[in-house]
Amino acid sequence: MIVYKAMRTRACAQKRSITMAKNYFINTYGCQMNVHESEKIAGILLNKGYTACEAEGDADIVVFNTCCIRDTAEKRALGNIGVIKALKKQKPSLVVAVVGCMPQQEGVAAAIREKYPYVDIVLGTRNIAMLADEIDKVLLSRQNIKKRSDKKYRCFDNSLPENYLEIDENTPSLRTSYPNAWVNIIYGCNNFCSYCIVPYVRGREVSRDINSVLDEVKRCVDGGYREITLLGQNVNSYGNDLEDGTSFARLLHEIDRIEGKFRVRFMTSHPKDLTEAVMDEMAASSKICSNLHLPMQAGSDKVLRDMNRRYDRQRYLYLIDSLRSRMPDIGITTDIMVGFPTETEQDFEDTLDIVERVRFSNAFTFIYSPRKGTPAAKMEQIPYAIKQERISRLITLQNRITKEISDTYTGGIYEVLCEDVAPKHSGCVCGRTESGRLVTFEGCEQDIGKFFNVKITKSRSASLFGQKEGETL
Ligand code: 5AD
Ligand code: SF4
Repeated sequence: MIVYKAMRTRACAQKRSITMAKNYFINTYGCQMNVHESEKIAGILLNKGYTACEAEGDADIVVFNTCCIRDTAEKRALGNIGVIKALKKQKPSLVVAVVGCMPQQEGVAAAIREKYPYVDIVLGTRNIAMLADEIDKVLLSRQNIKKRSDKKYRCFDNSLPENYLEIDENTPSLRTSYPNAWVNIIYGCNNFCSYCIVPYVRGREVSRDINSVLDEVKRCVDGGYREITLLGQNVNSYGNDLEDGTSFARLLHEIDRIEGKFRVRFMTSHPKDLTEAVMDEMAASSKICSNLHLPMQAGSDKVLRDMNRRYDRQRYLYLIDSLRSRMPDIGITTDIMVGFPTETEQDFEDTLDIVERVRFSNAFTFIYSPRKGTPAAKMEQIPYAIKQERISRLITLQNRITKEISDTYTGGIYEVLCEDVAPKHSGCVCGRTESGRLVTFEGCEQDIGKFFNVKITKSRSASLFGQKEGETL
C-alpha cells in the first residue's frame, strides 16, 4: 500500500511542479515480459527527466513496445504507428520510438524505415537500454538540420551485446503493477517450437545471476510488494547456461526462504523441462502459489511432434497427475493453439479430449498464425474457416469447464491478495486466490496490497464474487 501511494503521489507531484517537463507515453503490446520491459523503458525515460502522461497527444516521446507472436499483434501495433503520423505532423518535435520484438524480425526494421519514415528510433529486444542515448542523438541531429543523412538515427543489433546482463542489471525500472512485482530470471529461448518466432527475436537463453535475482526479490518485498512473478520464456531452463549448477528448483527454494508475507508465481513453464524437484519445491513451499501455467498447445502426439514440443500427451497427463497428487487444489492454466498446419479433425478431437481430461481452470486459446522464417510457416496451411470453427468449439468446451470449476468455490473461504479496484463494480476490489482465481469483493483502494479471507458467495464463468471475512497478516 505504501508503495502504491508513494508512486501515485510522486507522479502527481511531478506533473504539478514541472509544467515545462517533457512527457512520455508508452504503448505496450504482448506478454508480461513486454509489460515489464515497458517498466524499464519508463525507468529510463524518468531518469531522462520525462514524466508519464495520460494521452499520446500530450507526449513529447511516444514509444511502441511491440509484439510479433501473432499477425494480429503485429497489425495492431502497425496500425497505431500509422495513426501517430498525424500527431507528428501537428507536433514535429515529437520523438517516435518503435522497440521490442517486431523490429527484431529479419527485414522489419528496414520495412519500418521505409513505410513509416517519421519513426525516429528503432530498437530490438536486447538493446532497449540504448534508448536514452538514441533520444539524445535524435535531438542533437535535429539541431543540425543541414546534415540530412544524420537526421534520423536508428539502432538495430541482432547479436547479444557482450555485457548485456550487466547493462540490464543497471537499467532503472518504474514498477507499475503494485502489489505485484515482475522479476526477470532468464532471457531468450532455445526451444524453437516450429510455429514460434520468439527464439528468433529474443535470442538464446541467458540466465541472470542467482544473487542478483534474490537481491531484487528482497528489495521488492522490503519495498512492500506482496506478489513476485518470476518471468522467462521458459523459466524451467533457468540456470542451464550458468556454470555454478544453479537450477530453477534451487532458485525457488532460496526465494521461499526470504522473510516476509508474499506470494510467488512464475511463468512460463515448458512441460518438457518441468522437473520433479520443481514440483517438490512448489508443494513444500509456503510462498510459491499452488498455481501453474503449463502451455499444452495440442493434444495430438503427431501435432506435438510436428510442433517440436518434445513431450507427448502421456507425459503431459503424467505431469498433471504429479502436480495434483502433490497439490490437490492447484489451479492449472494453459495455452492451446488450433489450426496448426498438420492438425486434422481427429488431431483436434484429441485436443478436446485432453482438455476434458485435464480440466484446466482456464485456457488461453489461439488460432495458429504463420510467422515468417519459422518451419511451420513453410508447411501447407489449413483454411481459416476451419481454424475458426475449431477455436469456437474449444472455447465452448473450456468455458463449460471453467464455469464448473468456479462453482466448486462457492461457499468456501479463500485467502485473496487484493490487487486493484474492480474496474466494473463500484465500491469493490479484486484479487486472486492462491490458485489464481479472480475474486471481486467489497472494498476500497486502501485494501490494495492486503491479504483477506474471502467467503465466495457467487460464481460467474471465470469470475468469483465474495465477502471479506477479515485481513490475514
Ligand atoms: N500462432 C498462434 N499462437 C502462437 N503462440 C506462439 N506462437 C504462435 C503462433 N505462431 C501461442 C502459444 C504460446 C503463446 C504465448 O502464444 O500458445 O504458448
Ligand atoms: Fe516459443 Fe516454444 Fe520458446 Fe515458448 S518455448 S517461447 S512457444 S519457442
